[in-house]
Amino acid sequence: MSRRDMETQQLAILQQRRSVGNFTDQAVPRDILLELLEYATMAPSAGNRQGWRFVIVNDLSLIQILVDKGGSSTIGKSQCGILVTYEKNTLTPDYRDDLQTAAVCIQNLLLAAQAYGLGTCWVTTLPAQSTLRTIFKIPDTILRWPMLQWGFLPMCK
Ligand SMILES: Cc1cc2nc3c(=O)[nH]c(=O)nc-3n(C[C@H](O)[C@H](O)[C@H](O)COP(=O)(O)O)c2cc1C
Repeated sequence: MSRRDMETQQLAILQQRRSVGNFTDQAVPRDILLELLEYATMAPSAGNRQGWRFVIVNDLSLIQILVDKGGSSTIGKSQCGILVTYEKNTLTPDYRDDLQTAAVCIQNLLLAAQAYGLGTCWVTTLPAQSTLRTIFKIPDTILRWPMLQWGFLPMCK
């Protein structure tokens, strides 16, 4: 394969990623989710702090609770999701480098999922942060800016 062909193939991941609003009822195996998280944590992090913390949510009754408490209906269509959080500990709070680092990690997650042929949707329509903290026992002193990235289900071809 020529260098140009290889580049085209790699860049196709960027071109092809789209948010998905409907998912199959096929659950994504946990080992695949863990592989995706490994790719997610290869993202750059401010001060190399790597303060990401994840919660895999694959309990359907819990997913329904998140919808009932104000989460997007998209969440309710998926079999699993990943809550991405980041430690409060930050070098440059004025620039919210923790938020930026969490965001770039999520983007890695989306692109890795695309490479695996899985559909995703980044969702910020969520229950109130205080509700999420209670449900997932997220300490106020440690974690901040929970963001949810849902889907991980095979896309319709
Ligand atoms: C920070 C952020 C928050 C988002 N929140 C939601 C959301 O709550 N619900 C939803 O359905 N899509 C959400 N999206 C997905 C966008 O709607 C989607 O990326 C946009 O429409 C462009 O479509 P594309 O991803 O297919 O290019 C979010 C995307 C980003 C980057």
